[in-house]
Amino acid sequence: MPAIRPGATGAVISGWGTALPEKVISNDELAATMDTSDEWIRTRTGIHERRVGGSTAGLSVESGRQALEMAGLTPDRIDVLVLATTTPDKQWGTASLVQHELGLSCGAIEVNAACSGFMYGLVQAHGMIAMGADRALVIGTDTLSRITDWDDRGTAPLFADGSGAVVLEAVDGPGQLLAWDLDADGSLLPILWADVGGTIKMEGKEVFRRAVRLMVDSAEKAMTQAGITADDVSLVVPHQANIRIIQAACDRLGIPIERAATVLHRTGNTSSASIPLALADALDAGRVQHGDLVLLVGFGGGMTAGSCVLRWGGGVE
Ligand code: UT7
Repeated sequence: MPAIRPGATGAVISGWGTALPEKVISNDELAATMDTSDEWIRTRTGIHERRVGGSTAGLSVESGRQALEMAGLTPDRIDVLVLATTTPDKQWGTASLVQHELGLSCGAIEVNAACSGFMYGLVQAHGMIAMGADRALVIGTDTLSRITDWDDRGTAPLFADGSGAVVLEAVDGPGQLLAWDLDADGSLLPILWADVGGTIKMEGKEVFRRAVRLMVDSAEKAMTQAGITADDVSLVVPHQANIRIIQAACDRLGIPIERAATVLHRTGNTSSASIPLALADALDAGRVQHGDLVLLVGFGGGMTAGSCVLRWGGGVE
């Protein structure tokens, strides 16, 4: 993992937004169509309900518009749009559609790193700011319900739809990103994958085992690079896959679970959207103060992983 070059232009998050479909599916509703139960899903995953519906572009426009409004920016001020998604609406052009509907006049790209997508997109956007962009809109959106096999009790209770967005703005002096880590191990693709046009296939137990290890490794690399320890972290924002994965990763990292941001009980696993949804929830609840150290950490199919250590608001300690 490379260090951030001294003097590189930094950035801070100046706005955020979220979008969730209106349609809610409870565990009991799922149990009415397959051999499962509310009790099993709650205790094994932490998920109580999930939201499904909408398109990747539609949800992205909603969260992106909110983020722009909070940042107080008109669309012409954005220099680049990065859309993290593993479920684009079309073979290409989902990011372009979002760019058009938001009234942006900049480049637009899609990043696909499965559930780590938002981490990859966020690092990429910081890189573009280091190279001269003044403002970036980073959106993580997935509509996994479209690629979920609703007859498979091994996956259907987990996956859902949603979107989260942040605006990044260049700052003079140190930005928020103290360190980052991105990882991938293609030998693990066979435990969590979807063919083009197919549905999600998963060896749940093995994904669970690997996920904890990948998250802990990635977070530790980023924290070491940032020169901080687990004790310094005020808030950890993990990928929202399973509360037991989050608990196990927090235990191994030495971060009390009370410091974790969690929304999966009401959202399910929304892949690229899960970290920005959990981050926005914690920010809206006033859980982050200027200068706090925030650890974002994700993992996903591929398998991929990624972490960022942020000093909220940027600047020096
Ligand atoms: O973004 C990344 C996406 N993927 C993940 O994060 C998935 C990671 N894995 C997991 O979250 C967990 O492995 C699952 C939630 C998928 C499964 O939980 P588990 O504790 O690993 O359960 P298991 O697969 O060991 O199954 C335990 C039992 C089995 O029955 P027997 O063999 O003990 O009789 C399963 O057949 O639970 C059964 N089972 C279910 N029962 C009710 C499996 N799925 C269900 C279900 N409802 N939905």
